[in-house]
Amino acid sequence: MHAISLTPESFTPESFTPESFTPEWVQRYNRPTPRYTSYPTAPHFSDAFGPEDYAAALGRAREAMPGRDLSVYVHVPFCRRLCWYCGCHTVISRSGHVLPRYLAALDREMGLVAGHLGSGRRVRQVHWGGGTPTYLAPEQITALADGIRRHFVLDAGADMSLEADPRGLTRAHLEAARAAGFRRISFGVQDFDPRVQEAINRVQPVELVARVTAWAREVGFEGVNYDLVYGLPYQTPASYERTLDLVQELGPDRLSVFSYAHVPWLKPHQRLIADEALPDGAAKLALFLRIIERLTAAGYRHVGMDHFARPEDPLCQAQDAGRLHRNFQGYDVHGDLDVLAFGASGIGQVHDVYVQNRKDLPGYYEAIEAGRLPVQRGIRLTEDDQRRRHAIVRLMCDFRLDWARLGADLGLDDARAYFAEAVARLEVPARDGLVELREDGLVVTDVGRLFVRTLAAAFDAYLTPGAAPPQRMYSKAV
Ligand SMILES: C[S@@+](CC[C@H](N)C(=O)[O-])C[C@H]1O[C@@H](n2cnc3c(N)ncnc32)[C@H](O)[C@@H]1O
Ligand code: SF4
Repeated sequence: MHAISLTPESFTPESFTPESFTPEWVQRYNRPTPRYTSYPTAPHFSDAFGPEDYAAALGRAREAMPGRDLSVYVHVPFCRRLCWYCGCHTVISRSGHVLPRYLAALDREMGLVAGHLGSGRRVRQVHWGGGTPTYLAPEQITALADGIRRHFVLDAGADMSLEADPRGLTRAHLEAARAAGFRRISFGVQDFDPRVQEAINRVQPVELVARVTAWAREVGFEGVNYDLVYGLPYQTPASYERTLDLVQELGPDRLSVFSYAHVPWLKPHQRLIADEALPDGAAKLALFLRIIERLTAAGYRHVGMDHFARPEDPLCQAQDAGRLHRNFQGYDVHGDLDVLAFGASGIGQVHDVYVQNRKDLPGYYEAIEAGRLPVQRGIRLTEDDQRRRHAIVRLMCDFRLDWARLGADLGLDDARAYFAEAVARLEVPARDGLVELREDGLVVTDVGRLFVRTLAAAFDAYLTPGAAPPQRMYSKAV
């Protein structure tokens, strides 16, 4: 493997061809690996963790850190139509008749959690994800945001963002969201190629995306994000050129570019996508490299694993300052907040626990309507879990680790000695040019960035040393 540099200055298309990566190399690094939006990862949450454990964690948070600010995540699971690639927690319902009960449950859940946490804690971040939050009617968007303000102290300058599907979106939705305080909006775009759109059951013409983008700017959103996905059926670097041309023309402020997670054993509807139409690992890699090349040439910076933003964007500034963070919502600038998650399947991070709500709507409703926290599972982190989480987050955000700084952050005299086993696991990737192991720390190379989650896995004590992570638990790295 020759060293491949992907910095905007040094990257040239000639420095990479799909043949640069031998099948053996791709197999070694492009294997099922957690995305590390949490550590320990969700499959290690325990069903033995129940409502009392969450209530106890909220009580500890109340005692130990009464001044800690909050992030509020609300999951709206509904969509009108199923996209065949979808890996999210969704419930398909063509009409909105499901909403009144769900909105009432969310309100009750916020009341329950606020009761345990105590009043007066400030909310500095709000994110609505899904499913499709803009499945709500405009007046329901207003009512849900009002509910958050009733149960918590929502900071006037809070960073409020929501996900939206361009299809079915009206200007009134955007006006309601903006009036409710949302400043950033994220549109699901994925790919503009009609053939790909047909194959994923998501037909969405470019004019539609252009229109909702213009509306979002007109009504005063400060940031517009597009989600793209690579590795979808029939995509090739050549076919994706048009999508990238159009993206460049429409000029979103940020992009999230996700590797298609094909996990039909977890999401059986993905079987509607023909296996033979999917690009293989090397083809996906080629596609992602082309995306990086085009987006960096268009003035975006590659932040973290899968985000792109303009250099003046808070994400880039946070990365430069070593303050970028990673949580369930991906890369983020708020590392110092407890995350309260509301709604079916929502995952929160409070004090020393992760907690996930019931995923099934009947179970979620049953708990809430009986006045119980709707907890499905969770985990209380040990001191070792917390240290490894910190190392993984810093590696995924900074693409380097400095043993002295890590030791200071974690209260360790010798962080290198503490993580000696992880360093030993990185020797082969170091020989393959993914990471430089130095006396004072480690530095991920440009090509190593593409596989940073594979490098982070070296710090994961829940994976069997030397063994590949279980095939069916995680999606592949690229
Ligand atoms: C909740 S959706 C965004 C909002 C809205 N539901 C929509 O699709 O427009 C979140 C994003 O996850 C990404 N996504 C969904 N399924 C995926 C999968 N199987 N692999 C990778 N990314 C996926 C898509 O980019 C999608 O836009
Ligand atoms: S990708 Fe978005 S719109 Fe499509 S089914 Fe999934 S959550 Fe719903």
